Amino acid sequence: MDAFTLLKNDHAEAADVLQKLAATDEDAAAERQQLFNKLKTALDIHAHIEETIFYPVLKQEAETREITLEAYDEHKEIKDLLKQLSGTEPTGNAWDNLVGDLKRTVEHHVKEEETEMFPKASAVFSQQQLEDLGTRMQQEKQRQQQQKAASAR
Ligand SMILES: [Fe+2]
Repeated sequence: MDAFTLLKNDHAEAADVLQKLAATDEDAAAERQQLFNKLKTALDIHAHIEETIFYPVLKQEAETREITLEAYDEHKEIKDLLKQLSGTEPTGNAWDNLVGDLKRTVEHHVKEEETEMFPKASAVFSQQQLEDLGTRMQQEKQRQQQQKAASAR
């Protein structure tokens, strides 16, 4: 699987969970917490594979350097919001506002990657390179998923 396909699938999954999370009712606290945990795990792993495998390669090319540096900053924002949400009761205005912020930030980040970063990257990297990056990210994703599942047991 090439890098773009893998990352776009991740984006679609995150958007789906975010949508569900934003639509939950205040008295569905347990469901909210469960969806939030699922989202946090997915975004943590997604950010990790991008930051350790994809971005370091993109950062080296002049055409993709600036957009990649921006993406690191956006990941920081997303992680900060996830951290704040982890310490917030899943009821009330504070939670709603944070989920709204997270949804906007993730949507912006996804749009920027898919409409700016990926087209720029596809002009710089060969299909083979993109396949290799995709394979490495997929392997690391699976490793992380297994690790998280094991530590949750
Ligand atoms: Fe990202």
